[in-house]
Amino acid sequence: MDLHILDHRLRVTSICKNGLVDFTHPLIKLIFLRNRTRCKFFSLTETPENYTVVLDEEGFKELQPSEHLQVEGSVWLPLNVVSNGNASSSSQAVGVTKIAKSVIAPLAQQHVSVFMLSTYQTDFILVREKDLDVVIHTLEEEFTIYREVGGECSAVLSQEVHNGFQKNGKEAHQLTVHPVLIPLNHFCVMSLDPDTLPAIATTLIDVLFYSNSPKEGTLPSQDQDCIKFFSFSLIDGYVSLVMDTEAQIRFPADLLFTSSSGELWRMVRIGGQPLGFDECGIVAQISQPLADSDISAYYISTFSFDHALVPEEDIESVTAMLQQKRNEPAC
Ligand code: ARG
Repeated sequence: MDLHILDHRLRVTSICKNGLVDFTHPLIKLIFLRNRTRCKFFSLTETPENYTVVLDEEGFKELQPSEHLQVEGSVWLPLNVVSNGNASSSSQAVGVTKIAKSVIAPLAQQHVSVFMLSTYQTDFILVREKDLDVVIHTLEEEFTIYREVGGECSAVLSQEVHNGFQKNGKEAHQLTVHPVLIPLNHFCVMSLDPDTLPAIATTLIDVLFYSNSPKEGTLPSQDQDCIKFFSFSLIDGYVSLVMDTEAQIRFPADLLFTSSSGELWRMVRIGGQPLGFDECGIVAQISQPLADSDISAYYISTFSFDHALVPEEDIESVTAMLQQKRNEPAC
């Protein structure tokens, strides 16, 4: 298996809901006017708390400093696992489940904090740039590691990173079990040809920027058991969308596509208080049991909380599994 360290230096930011008006101009440019920016990695996720924007330095330049913009202090690098066809695993599971044991668990054990971003196409594991040496050293046993720089891809040689690295033993560290929320929405994970973005522009603008203003003549949604969650990303030319079925019906059905099985997903939102960025092992705690049960999962971290998406038919067993973990004595 190969692990690529992609050539993007990312910032993780959040725009507060009532500050969105200050940012619609740059966001429209980043989403629809690809030729006007050099941004190659852009992701925007609306949650009830805020809008999380993860983007490369070129894109970040478009965002003006503002009291409504919060910026996490570090530069994050996206890692991506590329299976080279001869994977021995018999698992059919997709998403974060596939990398739970080989990437997520070892990084958590080395106390490396990650920020996850699953898309229709792949799963990005963001790590802080300053943790890169530890990351390489931790994962080089399992992977051939490549670093992409300016379109060139070169193998990372391990002796470059030996200085001062000590593998942490398996000493047990106290893991916080965060409360979870299981909203009732059903989600789909979709894509579309970026050239057809103009055809969905008005719907996308409506859903992204006006979702909080009730449509004329309709009552605002009263449904307290559903959550507002919509994610759009445009990364290296690939579009990915995560939306609930209520948003999906607003889009022209012939342009968006999903995997042939067309499955629907339920969400587990992780965190009662905002999770911050330094704690490690949150993704591992969730993805490990999913991997043990071979349950597919997408995983999207946002500025405040984490979100796992599991196949709708598995939500009961996942809920039971998480409940059981809650009752186990912490070790
Ligand atoms: N750092 C966490 C981990 O390593 C995941 C991200 C949680 N934080 C957040 N703001 N979503 O498991």
